[in-house]
Amino acid sequence: MQRLYRKRIVLGVGGGIAAYKSAELVRRLRDQGAEVRVVMTSGGREFITPLTLQALSGHPVHLDLLDPAAEAAMGHIELARWADLVLIAPATADLMARLAQGVANDLLTTVVLATNAPIALAPAMNQAMWADPATQANRQLLEQRGIRLFGPGSGSQACGDIGMGRMLEADELAHAAADCFDTGLLTGLHLLITAGPTQENIDPVRYITNHSSGKMGFALAEAAVEAGARVTLVSGPVFLPTPDRVQRIDVVSARDMLAACEAAMPCDLLIAAAAVADYRPEVVAPHKLKKDPTSGEGLLLQMVRNPDILATLAGREDRPFSVGFAAETENLLEYATRKLRDKNLDLIVANDVANPGIGFNSEENAVTVIDRQQRETRFSQASKGHIARQLIAFIADRYEQA
Ligand code: PMT
Repeated sequence: MQRLYRKRIVLGVGGGIAAYKSAELVRRLRDQGAEVRVVMTSGGREFITPLTLQALSGHPVHLDLLDPAAEAAMGHIELARWADLVLIAPATADLMARLAQGVANDLLTTVVLATNAPIALAPAMNQAMWADPATQANRQLLEQRGIRLFGPGSGSQACGDIGMGRMLEADELAHAAADCFDTGLLTGLHLLITAGPTQENIDPVRYITNHSSGKMGFALAEAAVEAGARVTLVSGPVFLPTPDRVQRIDVVSARDMLAACEAAMPCDLLIAAAAVADYRPEVVAPHKLKKDPTSGEGLLLQMVRNPDILATLAGREDRPFSVGFAAETENLLEYATRKLRDKNLDLIVANDVANPGIGFNSEENAVTVIDRQQRETRFSQASKGHIARQLIAFIADRYEQA
């Protein structure tokens, strides 16, 4: 099983002799299914060449903060947003000190400050440097801020000393990286997720649909599995692979989606990320509609309301903890709050789809979650994978309090 399947990892390589292990680490991360982008400090470049890491990662290595060409391709803010995890290996004593102080004087430290993704460090240094009170104070400060430390290990060191300060081996680091995504927050629970668009037929060759790609719903399914849930994913027509360990049911129309969801009940939590067509043609023409030369320019389609899947499930006697999405182009929070109330939901995720960089069919999203007390929690722009993990942690917390 590839525990890092499709995870985006920024690997920061600092200036220590253990940088030679970073080459192997890139391979181990990719073996686990991760996509890896490497950022090197100037010190890191003294120990291993960018070319090696470029060849192993399959992408150009990011080196300088002030390189206009590199910034135009994928700048420090894009890298920070792209990442699902920033892993720094080796993390030298100097790098730990700079991170502890919030210094942003090169590309790697800037990415660390700018990212919302989890950050992990694999310390590597001489045993006396590791034991020094200054390094230990920095370690403590970084851990208090939620930065994880993988290692260091103990043993003989390149300088001839024996003690704590060895960087963990590539395999150990790849496993520790994968563990970052397994939260166990929803262990034992059944989660039903809807995703993608629905298609409503007009005739045998035409249909009405929308721009949903399914990316948000699929990312939620993946994050829910990582949190330990049993996940049923009911999806409209999309072009996405099924996430590992997810039971996927493909549907076409809103009525198919409702039937599939009802068949998947009961569940503990429901997340409705699908963009369901509110209306469908009243009659589906049995044959392809022809242009009628006598009827002038137009074609009138009589539409009827589709069932509301979310409201139906949230209205059942055995109702799950119900989370909706509200895709809006104006009055986002007002309309979302109305939907929360009208559909009897526990939470609603307000999604501003007027912004082309987020929402429908984009790689990133930015959302605000509203609860029944109208408290708002904002999740700022990041990859849909990262937003999904933040949402799952938030939803798990609220589910536990309910
Ligand atoms: O799929 P992507 O390209 O990644 O894009 C993600 C997204 C923008 C589609 C997603 O994040 C999102 O906002 N989904 C909800 C889109 C939507 O249709 O919102 P709505 O405001 O029309 O519906 C409100 C809620 O009721 C939604 O949870 C919807 O799933 C549900 N609904 C709506 C109508 C209906 N007949 N049945 C429903 O269950």
